[in-house]
Amino acid sequence: MAAAWARLLELAVLLSALVLSTALVGRDLLQSKSANNLPLVQGSGSTAAAAVWRSIIANASATGNAPMSLTYDAVGSGQGQKNLFNRAYDYALSDVPIPTSVFNTLERKTLQLPFAISALDAVYSVSGLDQPLNLSASVLGGILQCTITRWDDPAIRAINPQARVLSADINPVVRVDSSGSTELLTNYLATDPSWQLGAGKSIAWPKCIKQVQGTDGILAYLGSQKNAIGYAEYGLAKGQPGVFLASMQNAAGHFVQPSEVINNYNVTEVFGDDFVVPTSLVSGAWANVSLSQSKQPKVFPISGLEYMNIEQNLTSKGYPQGLILKELAEYTLSHGVQKLLKSWYFGALPAKIVNIAKADLQNVIVMKRPSSADADNLPTHWINVYQPLPDANSSSVNRRR
Ligand SMILES: *[C@@H]1O[C@H](CO)[C@@H](O)[C@H](O)[C@H]1NC(C)=O
Ligand SMILES: *[C@@H]1O[C@H](CO)[C@@H](O)[C@H](O)[C@H]1NC(C)=O
Ligand SMILES: *[C@@H]1O[C@H](CO)[C@@H](O)[C@H](O)[C@H]1NC(C)=O
Ligand SMILES: *[C@@H]1O[C@H](CO)[C@@H](O)[C@H](O)[C@H]1NC(C)=O
Ligand SMILES: *[C@@H]1O[C@H](CO)[C@@H](O)[C@H](O)[C@H]1NC(C)=O
Ligand SMILES: *[C@@H]1O[C@H](CO)[C@@H](O)[C@H](O)[C@H]1NC(C)=O
Repeated sequence: MAAAWARLLELAVLLSALVLSTALVGRDLLQSKSANNLPLVQGSGSTAAAAVWRSIIANASATGNAPMSLTYDAVGSGQGQKNLFNRAYDYALSDVPIPTSVFNTLERKTLQLPFAISALDAVYSVSGLDQPLNLSASVLGGILQCTITRWDDPAIRAINPQARVLSADINPVVRVDSSGSTELLTNYLATDPSWQLGAGKSIAWPKCIKQVQGTDGILAYLGSQKNAIGYAEYGLAKGQPGVFLASMQNAAGHFVQPSEVINNYNVTEVFGDDFVVPTSLVSGAWANVSLSQSKQPKVFPISGLEYMNIEQNLTSKGYPQGLILKELAEYTLSHGVQKLLKSWYFGALPAKIVNIAKADLQNVIVMKRPSSADADNLPTHWINVYQPLPDANSSSVNRRR
């Protein structure tokens, strides 16, 4: 075994010399190695999806046919996309699609691969209520524009007849960093005509509002400040002591909890004809896919697709890094991963998207396995896409040796 890995190492060094000599843009094979000399594939982006993603890449490594190093830095969706475009990282994760105007000016064809459905909710630290608070785009928008400043405001009381609302000031908190969560939230708030602050990853918030870094910052603020309100990814907020999840009003007028997204949420059925997606992953039209304006009764309105972004031509990543990246993308669509998403508070993808994505991943170009390699030192497949569960069957043939 040791001899085989020594040969792999030699081969990799040889290969990197080859790659270096062909004057490539961006990182080369030699740099794409971890400190312990394993093939390295690096990603960055969304903080909301960081926990589920780290579990996905740990499982991918565990089911692999050879050791590799998969990394992920949670730097926010906006920064993650930038890191992909300037090739500082191999892939990005984002809570929101690449804006069409940006997509259309990209130098290299880039895939927008959805891998999960997210739910973002208004979260608050008002104790003593025995039912979740109902909130609407107009009321939450009023709070975040500081036109509604007290918990016993008539607009809040009107949609919460059962709550003994407090006679107290509201302490609103928002994200200061460039955030996919802020974009999802403001897309929802902008459905109400009273919202004046626009929609996007960064907002010029009014001075009356506390601004903090990251979802961690929001949850920490709610943990220490009573009668506060902010927004956070469902899975991150759920179970935090002293943090409660609001029911949000959808376009049909119903108040819905984010748990709806993981409990029997069939996007195809819930959205019906309102759910239109592009026929290719290499398309700026993903920016038009909306999960927030459906008039179906069960829709949770602050919901979106989580995306993995990779370049379509991965040749410059070298072998096996390009192949690992492609197989990682395929792995996210596997039944094993999709079925477990709900234990991480994300919804599974509708079959419609899985089929489009699987077909399009066939067009991803990777550097071929060197013909001189034998099965012992360079496998044909690195990630075991069809056997994604490490504990499911320990006697399986394609285990890591
Ligand atoms: C929220 O709205 C629903 C539906 O109108 C209602 O049944 C529920 O009691 C309301 N919640 C509160 C706290 O009043
Ligand atoms: C979702 O609904 C569609 C349309 O009714 C159906 O074809 C599909 O099998 C359903 N998916 C799941 C996971 O239940
Ligand atoms: C997105 O939707 C808008 C408005 O419906 C439309 O004008 C535009 O062409 C769409 N963009 C793409 C890339 O499909
Ligand atoms: C893919 O990229 C490589 C170099 O990075 C280039 O030589 C090759 O022509 C590209 N292939 C296609 C089909 O564009
Ligand atoms: C990774 O595998 C473990 C063990 O089977 C499972 O509990 C976990 O949910 C998996 N994670 C994902 C994201 O599929
Ligand atoms: C585990 O894999 C072996 C060999 O492929 C197979 O015979 C067995 O039925 C599998 N067990 C389970 C629980 O899937």
